[in-house]
Amino acid sequence: MLVRSSGVRGSIIPIIILLLLCSWLLVLYSHQHHLQWDLLPFLFTPDQEPPVEVVVASTRAEDTLWVHRFLPRWARSIYVVDNPRARLTVPENKGREAMVYLTHIVNNYDTLAETTVFVHASRFAWHNDNRDYDLLPALHQLRLDYVQESGYVNLRCVQVLGCPAEIRPHIDAASDWARSIGSAPIGDGSGNSRALTTKEIYKAAFEELMPGVDVPQQVGVSCCSQFAVSRKAVRSRSREDYVRWRDWLLETSLPDDLSGRVFEYMWHIIFGKEAVYCPSAADCYCKLFGECGLKCQEMQCEGRYILPKYSNLPEGWPQFGYAGEDRNFTGLL
Ligand SMILES: *[C@@H]1O[C@H](CO)[C@@H](O)[C@H](O)[C@H]1NC(C)=O
Repeated sequence: MLVRSSGVRGSIIPIIILLLLCSWLLVLYSHQHHLQWDLLPFLFTPDQEPPVEVVVASTRAEDTLWVHRFLPRWARSIYVVDNPRARLTVPENKGREAMVYLTHIVNNYDTLAETTVFVHASRFAWHNDNRDYDLLPALHQLRLDYVQESGYVNLRCVQVLGCPAEIRPHIDAASDWARSIGSAPIGDGSGNSRALTTKEIYKAAFEELMPGVDVPQQVGVSCCSQFAVSRKAVRSRSREDYVRWRDWLLETSLPDDLSGRVFEYMWHIIFGKEAVYCPSAADCYCKLFGECGLKCQEMQCEGRYILPKYSNLPEGWPQFGYAGEDRNFTGLL
């Protein structure tokens, strides 16, 4: 029967079977790779360049569902550094978030969003400039027009770490010898040594990354490598520059915390700001997030960020505090 049947029926049945097989494979694949959410932007992203895209540096262990849930209108690129089979990943898990940010720029240089926001995967983290250490309000309140105008903005306004001058490259530089062995004597005569810090290797790294550019006297920017940039600011450097910087990261013998942190104190320079970029916190909160008229003291503005006791937030945060007390959290969950 089947052999003899021909024409319409004969050609439609194999196609239907093939389609069923394909969708079954797709479902199987997406379940296996936890890609249900990741596929959504892939399937529904329109052809035009998106106005704003969030680039997330994550590890397999981190939960990034919040990005999809709470930023549904943004394009979302979630890189998983320790999963070579993730939809978006990096050539090598080296240099912390810097590898992700550079990889995104290298791979998307010609199709970047008008604004790209580069962040870590943890929504709640000690360094997020918010009284709940919640990154989400900053993303929801972010004034994209101001990002376009400024070119680069740091997502932290508070100056408590990194400003006003975290690094004095010429003064802080370790000796060539210390750099060659990757450690410095403690200096108490005991002969013991300690690992080098970012400040101590910054000058040498800067000279390698920006050949021919004078190493600045002071470098200051609010900490922690989360920022937003305009497409124009990214393209003020050539794609080849980003490739070269990523090659440096791939090849350097520096440990990840140092190589990553070199970029933490380079991004603002890469995107066109002076080496010391520490706008007043009150001004920053107003222009960046529309929170104007805050009363600020030297290192703190009312109702905003306070340096937490520990860099690990307690179990149960943001609802429960360090002593297990109810914090009456009112944000989105
Ligand atoms: C949370 O609300 C309760 C009841 O209104 C109050 O007693 C408590 O002090 C509040 N906790 C904080 C951290 O504000």
